Amino acid sequence: MRERFVVEGLAGKRALRGDLPVSGAKNAALKFLAATILFDDEVTFDNMPAIEDIHRMGELLESSGATVRFEDHTMTVVPPAQWKPALDTAIAKRLRASIVPTGPMLADMGEVTFPFPGGCVLGERPIDLFLSGFEALGASVEERDEQFHVRAKDGVLHGAHIFFPFVSVTGTETLMMAAALAEGETVLENAAMEPEIVALAQMLNASGANIEGAGTPVIRINGTAGKPLHANGQTFTIPPDRIETGSFLVLAALAGDDVTISRCEPTHVRSLLDLLSRAGVLLEVGDSFVRVRGSAAPAPYTSISVRTHEYPGFPTDLQALMAIFLTQAEGEATVLETIFDGRFRYADDLNRMGADITVMNPHRILVRGPKQLSRAKLESPDLRAGLAYIIAAAIASGVSHIDNAYVIDRGYEKIEDRLAGIGLSIRREQCE
Ligand code: EPU
Repeated sequence: MRERFVVEGLAGKRALRGDLPVSGAKNAALKFLAATILFDDEVTFDNMPAIEDIHRMGELLESSGATVRFEDHTMTVVPPAQWKPALDTAIAKRLRASIVPTGPMLADMGEVTFPFPGGCVLGERPIDLFLSGFEALGASVEERDEQFHVRAKDGVLHGAHIFFPFVSVTGTETLMMAAALAEGETVLENAAMEPEIVALAQMLNASGANIEGAGTPVIRINGTAGKPLHANGQTFTIPPDRIETGSFLVLAALAGDDVTISRCEPTHVRSLLDLLSRAGVLLEVGDSFVRVRGSAAPAPYTSISVRTHEYPGFPTDLQALMAIFLTQAEGEATVLETIFDGRFRYADDLNRMGADITVMNPHRILVRGPKQLSRAKLESPDLRAGLAYIIAAAIASGVSHIDNAYVIDRGYEKIEDRLAGIGLSIRREQCE
């Protein structure tokens, strides 16, 4: 049975109040789980978000031989004596992040077979960087029967100097993990610098890996020459989700009277905090919270153009949210998407709700505001836009429906309960 969210909009009133805690980061947790393939003992995580993508990654590990226990945000992965070095096709095709375990599997088992990964459709999402990285580390890649067969020539990978022609988050993580057990040194140049990469490197280093420079464009990995990593009873904590943090900040700015986003890491959303405060949003930034107190003046916020960029720039995953913010700001601004194409599919829906957005080309939109949005029946094009739609519905007038709850559940845990906790009228219902 399909489910949808029903949201009663606040019609532009700023009425939400209270504390809105942030969950563990999906995009950190998925990589932490993939990393367990490098370990020879059980690994425990806390603050693990109970969301669809995490369940899928758990199943993917189970289908390769692991035992996975998940209860009350604590997940334990017990590795098998020998991993089965082939990823389950049905699961991998539902999850873009299924590409990530291929690196550790190749490092640990000397081979891996996997299909082209699925996941959110955000324009073209090729995997050439992964395949050429594996080859640079001394593996052969063969594509046959719609599967990639990758094999380390003599069973082990060899360190290499790899230059990324453009920055890739999962590419950096996957090759960093492949190199962790290789023989010799690997240098990853033009690496991604996302906080998830730093967290992953810390977890690996705490368990026997030797990785330097994570969080900078040059990462050096001294491989263990095949020696697996060992958790030794440590529990690793999943860091807070910076995209959820950013989405909640936008909601609080547009519909909040006095909302505190808690259990977050404000330094991970600097680019958004900077934009919001320049637009006139009153923010109080603490160590692990941001309090949003509406606007400095009663007038609408000021429009500010935004350009997505790799971390620490403005994240593409908050791009739809920013467009919604701009529909409520005074003036005209452009949103330039530099990471993906095909990520403006929300523009038509927002225009149906009363927004004034012109799609100039697949990378640029023009947003004019402020415009009062009104209710609509919506179906989210991707996971991040899904929460953006809930936020658009929250500020609109009337009752909106967001149809494919599953897409939102993939990335956000019990979103309706948490948003209801600060006073939003939102419920989940079954539909045909
Ligand atoms: N790219 C290639 N070849 C490759 C790999 C990437 O051309 O082999 C291109 C992509 O098509 C894109 C660009 O490189 O144009 C950057 O993509 P990147 O590889 O960095 O994206 P990703 O690693 O697939 C992760 C997040 C995304 C997030 C992007 C950008 C995970 C699991 N996913 O994707 O998150 O949008 O980085 O920050 O970490 C989401 O959580 O909903 C989500 C889509």
